[in-house]
Amino acid sequence: MNPAALTPLTARRGGPLKGRVRVPGDKSISHRALILAAMTVGESTLAGLLEGEDVLNTAKAMQALGAKVERAADGVWHIHGVGVGGFAQPAAPLDFGNSGTGCRLAIGAVAGCPITATFDGDASLRSRPMRRVLDPLEKMGARVLEQAKGGRLPLTLQGAADPMPIEYESPVPSAQLKSAVLLAGLAAPGETTVIEAEPTRDHTERLMKHFGAKVTSKPHGEHGRRIVLQGQPELEPAKVVVPADPSSAAFPLVAALVVPGSEVILEAVMTNPLRTGLFTTLREMGANIEMLEKCDDGGEEVADLRVTFSPLKGVEVPPERAPAMIDEYLVLGVAAAFAQGTTRMRGLKELRVKESDRLEATAEMLRVNGVAVEIEGDDLIVHGKGQGPGSVAGGGEVKTHMDHRIAMSALVMGLAAENPVRIDDSAFIATSFPGFVEMMRGLGAEID
Ligand code: S3P
Repeated sequence: MNPAALTPLTARRGGPLKGRVRVPGDKSISHRALILAAMTVGESTLAGLLEGEDVLNTAKAMQALGAKVERAADGVWHIHGVGVGGFAQPAAPLDFGNSGTGCRLAIGAVAGCPITATFDGDASLRSRPMRRVLDPLEKMGARVLEQAKGGRLPLTLQGAADPMPIEYESPVPSAQLKSAVLLAGLAAPGETTVIEAEPTRDHTERLMKHFGAKVTSKPHGEHGRRIVLQGQPELEPAKVVVPADPSSAAFPLVAALVVPGSEVILEAVMTNPLRTGLFTTLREMGANIEMLEKCDDGGEEVADLRVTFSPLKGVEVPPERAPAMIDEYLVLGVAAAFAQGTTRMRGLKELRVKESDRLEATAEMLRVNGVAVEIEGDDLIVHGKGQGPGSVAGGGEVKTHMDHRIAMSALVMGLAAENPVRIDDSAFIATSFPGFVEMMRGLGAEID
């Protein structure tokens, strides 16, 4: 990357954070709502859609596959779908930018259609494994015509003319993998089954039901689930209201916990239990997170959260909690740095294949700011510095590795550390949280 094009930012310690904010719509639901709406016949409306670069790339891909995608002046998106199995062959490669979710889900949706499409992305996405989704999709009849070394992007997929339903036991706890198989299964006759040893986010299952498909989910084994989809449904257009993203709420939330005197209210945050592992963990650490008002918003539970500055203590985070907080370990690392005592986060293997190697990146982010960290196998151990004098030194420059969550986590750390924390590049924040810096400044954060 050309260093001249980088947009660094610095966060420094200032007064308390105060105010009431609503973070943008959930990224996972936004991708799924666009893809499923494109697979119905008729017009669906999507309100509260995340308008981050990742989701906008999925919207463009759906358009390239033949759906009509329009954003009205009131911010509501109108999608005219082409029906299950009805995607048209795109004229050019589909570019998913930085987004593993958009790309892997779209690969699944295309795998059930008799078309050929090329999938590509930026340098970060080109380094991420795609074999995990291609393996089951090949079993369903899709063919990989071209791929970069190790099953990576760019890759060209020929969808199945007659997709076959499969029963697939997922080797990794990945909602993207589960969703790719289920999206391909929409076009297959009979039952497509995915078995997962650890439950992962269930937005695909919920939204498929919302659009009229029959999906059941039953307990399987010790913690797992068996998800069964009845293929070839007539998907009905629907209205989707996308709730606020708990993974984005995590940043102002942790900031309020570590900046002395803060009190922040986060409005209407989705509290789906398969996404709230961070809230559970922070509460165990002593965080004061109060749920003010709960309600149902488009099939998902949401609540206003009141968060106040809290003394934190180190805890052990069990490995089975990882799927419910997989995107939150970076910012948990920041909370752990300001906690009294040691935090051990167990079973973080999947962090190595995110937008960056987040296990190494979290360790590096903390170390350059004076926090002692160890990686033992798949575990991350953070030796907390506590709050007050002698706490986190800061003063480091954090490399963001094209990863939005490293950028936001490091800035949160800078708001409470003794010395400012600088990030080398803020550009990728826009993939998931457009307006992050402005929102944090509105709460009183010093970021420039
Ligand atoms: C997501 C699933 C997770 C997560 C990603 C969003 C999704 O990835 O890290 O940000 O929307 O399905 P994996 O399924 O690969 O764990």
